[in-house]
Amino acid sequence: MKIYETKDYQEMSRQAANILSAQVILKPDCVLGLATGSTPIGTYDQLVDWYNKGDVDFSQVRTVNLDEYRGLTRDNDQSYYYFMHKHLFDRVNIKLENTNVPDGTQEDAEKECARYEALIESMGGVDIQLLGLGHNGHIGFNEPAADFAVTTHCVDLTESTIEANKRFFESADDVPRQAYTMGIGTIMKAKKILLVVNGEGKADIVAKAFFGPVTPEVPASILQLHRDVTIVADKAALSKI
Ligand code: GLP
Repeated sequence: MKIYETKDYQEMSRQAANILSAQVILKPDCVLGLATGSTPIGTYDQLVDWYNKGDVDFSQVRTVNLDEYRGLTRDNDQSYYYFMHKHLFDRVNIKLENTNVPDGTQEDAEKECARYEALIESMGGVDIQLLGLGHNGHIGFNEPAADFAVTTHCVDLTESTIEANKRFFESADDVPRQAYTMGIGTIMKAKKILLVVNGEGKADIVAKAFFGPVTPEVPASILQLHRDVTIVADKAALSKI
């Protein structure tokens, strides 16, 4: 595990964008595993800035997103499909047909999750997976549980996640109760993992996840067993290690 400490959010975003753009430059048709949440927004902004300066080209890049709320349509401004278009896809020269987000409107959860898992496989797997970190240690929407879920599956969101994500919705009642997410096994199959985390509010979970025991109660702790993980964190997020 490599840990980069940055002075603030901006430097974290720049460093993460550097790692992602290096991947794109080395392998123009790479598969980027992408994440949502507030943490990676600065990373996407930095990539867009470099794209506008002609430093990075997304014309052959392929992407797969970690997760999507179940039941939200693509045009719902809280869907992760909408988020990705707003923060990245509509701002760079990526081809729409090369981007993939689980389809939250598919009612048949088993079918949609199997389709998504097979799709990732057919793309040759993920070259680098970007991750944020939930306050309870979740990655994607893999919530604390008795076991590590292996493949893409449908999850019931925990109260703490609904609480944390309600700031984006009109009220907690509007937060979907379920999501489709890559499994821990899907994430662990990525060739490289890049996790971004910032702020004092995440300091406790950073210490637990990366310096505590590996347990499904803290899903991100499994990353300690991956052979190529880079964590880019600001000083505040690393203040309890
Ligand atoms: C959501 C996403 C995760 C993300 C997490 C943390 O629940 N499914 O992928 O890492 O939130 O979000 P934030 O970066 O806003 O703290």
